[in-house]
Parts: sequence; C-alpha cells; structure tokens
Amino acid sequence: MELKILGKTGIKSSPLIYGTWYLPNMPSPNEPGKRIVDKESSIRLIKKAYDLGINFFDTADVYRGVYDRENLFNDFSTVGLAEKILGEALNGYERESFVISTKVMGRVGPLPNDQGLNRKHIFNAIDKSLERLKMKYVDFYLYHAPDNYTDPAIASKTMNKLIDDGKILHYGLSNFSNSELKRYIEVSTELGLEGPVIIQDKLNLLEQKNLSTVIRTAEENKMVSMIYSPLAQGILAGRYIKGDESNSRKEYEKNFKGNALFQQNSERIMKLYDLSVELGIPMSVLSLKWVMTRGENIFPIIGASRVEQVEEDFSVLNIKIDNETIEKIDNIFKS
Ligand SMILES: NC(=O)c1ccc[n+]([C@@H]2O[C@H](COP(=O)([O-])OP(=O)(O)OC[C@H]3O[C@@H](n4cnc5c(N)ncnc54)[C@H](OP(=O)(O)O)[C@@H]3O)[C@@H](O)[C@H]2O)c1
Repeated sequence: MELKILGKTGIKSSPLIYGTWYLPNMPSPNEPGKRIVDKESSIRLIKKAYDLGINFFDTADVYRGVYDRENLFNDFSTVGLAEKILGEALNGYERESFVISTKVMGRVGPLPNDQGLNRKHIFNAIDKSLERLKMKYVDFYLYHAPDNYTDPAIASKTMNKLIDDGKILHYGLSNFSNSELKRYIEVSTELGLEGPVIIQDKLNLLEQKNLSTVIRTAEENKMVSMIYSPLAQGILAGRYIKGDESNSRKEYEKNFKGNALFQQNSERIMKLYDLSVELGIPMSVLSLKWVMTRGENIFPIIGASRVEQVEEDFSVLNIKIDNETIEKIDNIFKS
C-alpha cells in the first residue's frame, strides 16, 4: 500500500485512519437492556486494521464505546476506555510503526476543571491519556471542540509546551468554525509559535458544508483534514437498505441522528445503491472514494465495527474508480 505524507509534518500514514469512537458492543450480562464494550472484538478489529496496513489510529479521552448515552455525562467510570483498549491492542507493535491522535476538551470528571482547553486541564489530560495508552507520546493532540473561555494564545502556548516536553509531536483542532480555525493559525504566526497542522471534521456525500469552509482553509494552509463519519455512520455504506439492522448504531443508539438524514435523502441513497449494483462496487467504497478525491490532504477515518466492514472499507485502496464515476456520484448528491 502506498503511504501518504501527512501535510507539512513529513510523517507517513496510510490513506485511511481507523477510529475508536463506537467500539463494538454487546448486551451487558448483568444489566438487562444495557450494552457494554466488547473488548475482545475491539482489539481484533484494531489488529485487523493494523495487519491490513492501516497505521494511523484515532481516539479521544471521552471515547468509551457508546452504550449508555443517557448517563454518559454523569458516569465517569468508563472515561478513556477507548484509549485503554487501543493501547492494549497496539502494545507489542513497534511505536515507530503507528501514528496516534487523541483529543482533549470534553468533560472527563466531576471537578470544575475536568474539561476545557485551559492549561490546567490540558496538562492533566495529556498525562492521563498517555497513561491509558501506555505510550510516551502521541503524534497528534487535538482540541476536540472550541472552548470560549480559554484565550487561543494560551491554548496555543500550552500545545507548544507539550511539543517541547516531547509528550505530543503536533497539534490540531476538531469541530472549530472556519473563523476560529483562521484565528488559531493567525495567533500562532503572530506569536512565532508552532501552529496547528491538522483538523478533524465531518464530511460525507450527505454532509458537505465543511468542504467549502474549514477543509478549504486547511488545504490552503497545507494542513491535514482527518474526515470523520465519511459513511454518514453507515448510511452511505448501505447499512440500512440491505435490511439487516441487527447490532447497528440505529438499533442500539436511541437518538441515532442518521434516521432523519436517511429519510431526507432516501432517493439519492437509492441512486447510489443502484450505481453500486451496476458497477459491482460496494457503496462504502464509492462513498469513501468520493471523500478521498476532495483534496490532497484528506484522510478519512473509518469507524467499521466488524472485520468484514474493515476489509470492505479498506478495499477502496485497491479498487480503481474512474473520474467519470466520481462525477456521477457527485451529481447524485448535488442539490
Ligand atoms: N472529532 C469528532 O468530533 C468526531 C466525531 C465522530 C467521529 N470521529 C472519529 O471518526 C471515526 C469514524 O466516525 P464514524 O464511526 O461516524 O464513521 P463512519 O465510517 O461514517 O461510520 C461507521 C459505521 O458505518 C458502518 N459501516 C462501516 N463500514 C461499513 C460497511 N463496509 N458496510 C456496512 N456498514 C459499514 C458501521 O455501522 P454499524 O456499526 O451500525 O454496523 C460503522 O460503525 C470515529 O471512530 C472517531 O474516531 C470524530
């Protein structure tokens, strides 16, 4: 597999990243109606991705495999579970052979400063993340979301300190508006600091608005765009038109946002399905390829929850799809 350079960092990465937000889960044997993370399958999936050649893994301190979202914000006992599992899965592989991103901002405990981008929290949070990952450094440390209370100059200096201390190699932003992203780039330039080199935002055929805003700004600044939900949480992989909804996000996530997205776009989704049948290429592959052709520095994060899904998504790197087909796909989703 041909590796790609991550923007201006010079670091080589697989063109696909594997994400650990919704780790595979199963019904809890002790609490009827609840679901728990299936650690064994999670580790199997991460290792499968690694064995296929994916060398970039994304996580966050708040990721814990979503299974009880209603109580998520009161129960901190499972904070960092995804980092722990990722660390365990990769333990034993050469640290030089993989790239890690994790994130900070969300609430991870009951104390007033157990969240945010303030220096107090970031210094504490990075140590906890490294401890859970059992790693000496992370390659990319991202602000998970903006924090209106911390001055960008302070947050940027904090990240530069972590670079100097060798705890992180680079930093970036996720879920920031275009003007906030520009502000962070400006601030680092004004202060002579190392600036952010990476963003993480949503992009898929059904949700394209970031393409003309943050992703464009990132491209203009040769920053990497890590793309989340490239398959619109399964909708663009045909998850819900193949009939089988068992153990899907839609089944276990009460407020699955994809429901409305699916209903509003069912005609287009069916057209993509028909094209996929006509070409004999999985919908997931067509959808991922479209994302990958949106720019030079675009890296989709796949969130596959089964081994067959990882294999199918990965096949996007081996299946040839011509420009004419990409244009056809683009036209289906143009309003
Ligand atoms: N920065 C942020 O705020 C943020 C937000 C969201 C995500 N992320 C990152 O981005 C990663 C990916 O996001 P995502 O999980 O929403 O991505 P996604 O690829 O759009 O959705 C993944 C889901 O799609 C389905 N799927 C994947 N491949 C499939 C295939 N070949 N056939 C059928 N179904 C398939 C699976 O659904 P089922 O499990 O239902 O089968 C899977 O769980 C996350 O793990 C996380 O690392 C970051």
